[in-house]
Amino acid sequence: MTDPRSRILSPPDRPLIAPSILAADFARLGEQAAAVLDAGADLLHLDVMDGHFVPNLTMGPDLCRGLREYLPDACLDVHLMVTDPAQFVVPFARAGANHLTFHIEAVPEPTALAREVRDQGMTAGLAINPATDLGAIEPFLEAFDLILVMSVHPGFAGQAFIADVLEKTRLIRPRLHAGQRLQMDGGVNRETAGACLEAGADVLVAASAIFRTPAYDQAIGELRNGPSLKKAMERKAT
Ligand code: DX5
Ligand code: ZN
Repeated sequence: MTDPRSRILSPPDRPLIAPSILAADFARLGEQAAAVLDAGADLLHLDVMDGHFVPNLTMGPDLCRGLREYLPDACLDVHLMVTDPAQFVVPFARAGANHLTFHIEAVPEPTALAREVRDQGMTAGLAINPATDLGAIEPFLEAFDLILVMSVHPGFAGQAFIADVLEKTRLIRPRLHAGQRLQMDGGVNRETAGACLEAGADVLVAASAIFRTPAYDQAIGELRNGPSLKKAMERKAT
């Protein structure tokens, strides 16, 4: 079996699509997670919220473990929206997570924690909220396998894309080396995906745009080949 982390460290030459299970039907979670992978998804994105860093509560290591047991080959991409991510590195590693992203707003000096995440056998990601300036993460980019630019204020699925963050994505891209991924998360759909890709993102997270549609393969294909905002606007104009 190939190491699921290779999907982040040496991905295929096309954008990666990471369905966020936050918009899945939790009563049918295993079945729906398996179905998005069958439909071509590259990663499964788990949004972990603690009711403190963000005003919502979602899932924890036990849910991650359940998915790992049910889907042994899946690459599990865990996005920690929690005040104290250090507390959860070992529990998620033991629960079978392959990748762990935490927020710069929670850990302003993130290098040591990135090392800990990697020491636990996971790739490490650093997330930045829409309201946080690029300067906050700039000195630390090198320490991470993935940078996550939030395109909504974290907390809930189904919010509108904040286009202003595209500028941040554009500025980060040239500062990363070929082995690093640039992920966007929040409000990514068939209308906004193209703009994310044009700005330099190579991993797109989407909850509503995948799980709230009837045909996962079509939704994933549309995100991967996302029409740009420009093209979408041209279509509207005609
Ligand atoms: C937001 C989460 C996102 C969210 C995306 O706090 O980090 O991953 O699930 O949901 P959509 O794609 O519906 O905006
Ligand atoms: Zn997320």
